[in-house]
Amino acid sequence: MNHPLLAKVYDTVLAPTEWWGVRDQRRRLMDGLGGRLIELAAGTGLNVPFYPSAAAEIHAVEPDRHMLVRLRSKAEARRPAAPVYVYQGDAQHLPFADGVFDAAVMTFALCTIPDPVRALDEAHRVVRPGGVLRFLEHVRSPSDRTARWQDRISPMWSRVSGGCRLNQPTDVILNGTRWDVDTMWRSGGGSVVAGQAFRL
Ligand SMILES: C[S@@+](CC[C@H](N)C(=O)[O-])C[C@H]1O[C@@H](n2cnc3c(N)ncnc32)[C@H](O)[C@@H]1O
Repeated sequence: MNHPLLAKVYDTVLAPTEWWGVRDQRRRLMDGLGGRLIELAAGTGLNVPFYPSAAAEIHAVEPDRHMLVRLRSKAEARRPAAPVYVYQGDAQHLPFADGVFDAAVMTFALCTIPDPVRALDEAHRVVRPGGVLRFLEHVRSPSDRTARWQDRISPMWSRVSGGCRLNQPTDVILNGTRWDVDTMWRSGGGSVVAGQAFRL
């Protein structure tokens, strides 16, 4: 669960994709969110700069203690905007009561969380009825050729990326949960999805 080297290089390795558009996707994902917000699998905190100032509170959950160090330092540097509470925790078993959040956010999280359905159920439990889930995830490519390539490199990729399943059909998983998927935009040739789902 703890990946010191990955945590150390994570922001640097992702920097090119962040500058080529992922940063903008992260920013857009937070648009219009307010109230009590929870981010699951917050990693090194690449979403922290885009946490909405209108939020009352932001709770960020991440299990890897090396990622947490970086997440905490970004959250502290962000003051004096809405308070950010950082927890070491597992998105599959959240230590929160039912319906206490207005919104949940996950970015490139469901590919790595061992049981993504369980994590989506937990997010559903802690978000109030009428609340929202915003997601940004890479998925199994709709192109057979690219999907075959994903299948080939996924085992090796998983070893260097802390367990990320490159070929996981996260879009299909999202559509199969209790969340009511409202919008799902595709980019990256269909291999990245972003959107929102409501908790009915
Ligand atoms: C690819 S990183 C994404 C980090 C961040 N959300 C981002 O957008 O850069 C996946 C993250 O999922 C975290 N993770 C793995 N298992 C988890 C679990 N059971 N609960 C919550 N987070 C988990 C990892 O520690 C890692 O930080």
